[in-house]
Amino acid sequence: MSDPEPQTAGGKVLWHFTMSLDGFVAGPNHEMDWVTGVSSRPGLAEEYVKTTGAVLGGRNGWDHFPDPSSVYGGAWNGPIFVLTHHPEDATPADGVTFLNCGPAEAVRIGLEAAGGKNLEVFSPTIGRQLLELGLIDEIDLHIAPVLLGEGIRLYDNPGSVPIRLHRVGDGDPTSVVNVRYRPTTTAKIPTESVSGA
Ligand SMILES: NC(=O)c1ccc[n+]([C@@H]2O[C@H](COP(=O)([O-])OP(=O)(O)OC[C@H]3O[C@@H](n4cnc5c(N)ncnc54)[C@H](OP(=O)(O)O)[C@@H]3O)[C@@H](O)[C@H]2O)c1
Repeated sequence: MSDPEPQTAGGKVLWHFTMSLDGFVAGPNHEMDWVTGVSSRPGLAEEYVKTTGAVLGGRNGWDHFPDPSSVYGGAWNGPIFVLTHHPEDATPADGVTFLNCGPAEAVRIGLEAAGGKNLEVFSPTIGRQLLELGLIDEIDLHIAPVLLGEGIRLYDNPGSVPIRLHRVGDGDPTSVVNVRYRPTTTAKIPTESVSGA
């Protein structure tokens, strides 16, 4: 199995994240320091800068990172929509529109603003709602070689039924993805156990 083909701009709704191997897209308290030191394939960020027309996020993510110029390290510029039930107390920012509407309406507005490019959904909670509505075209993930153990999950939906997916790319779309990792920390075996004392 090879890496997926580069992303294309096609008016798609992408649920797009860097995710830990154990399924978290942010650590506790929205920490993102775990992505430091993780490398990506060359040109990956440029790919998304070119193909993204608009971004849809949630209020928690915005309140923790209220900086529209930080998307793709500042390389992307475009309309950002933030969904919230109380837009009146949000801090305004250039290029950011606070929406208080249903997720389907937010997607309609975001796709129109994206002008034929993709709408990127940067929110686990909104993505979950859109999946239920059948409005996610692709789940686009970059899996970082790290285990977090706690934080904000990509998909947190206790009691839900499994959502079946088809992998995009070559080969059998129902196939598992095989990965193999080694911990980078060395064993901490007490010396007395090693010597048998
Ligand atoms: N790893 C990555 O690549 C990556 C990328 C992007 C973001 N993230 C992380 O994702 C995290 C954000 O996730 P989150 O799930 O905690 O929060 P979130 O999705 O950013 O925000 C949730 C909030 O959005 C509002 N909202 C959601 N659905 C709504 C609806 N239908 N109508 C009106 N408002 C709605 C509500 O705000 P109100 O309470 O105001 O109503 C809700 O409390 C952040 O930590 C961010 O850093 C990670």
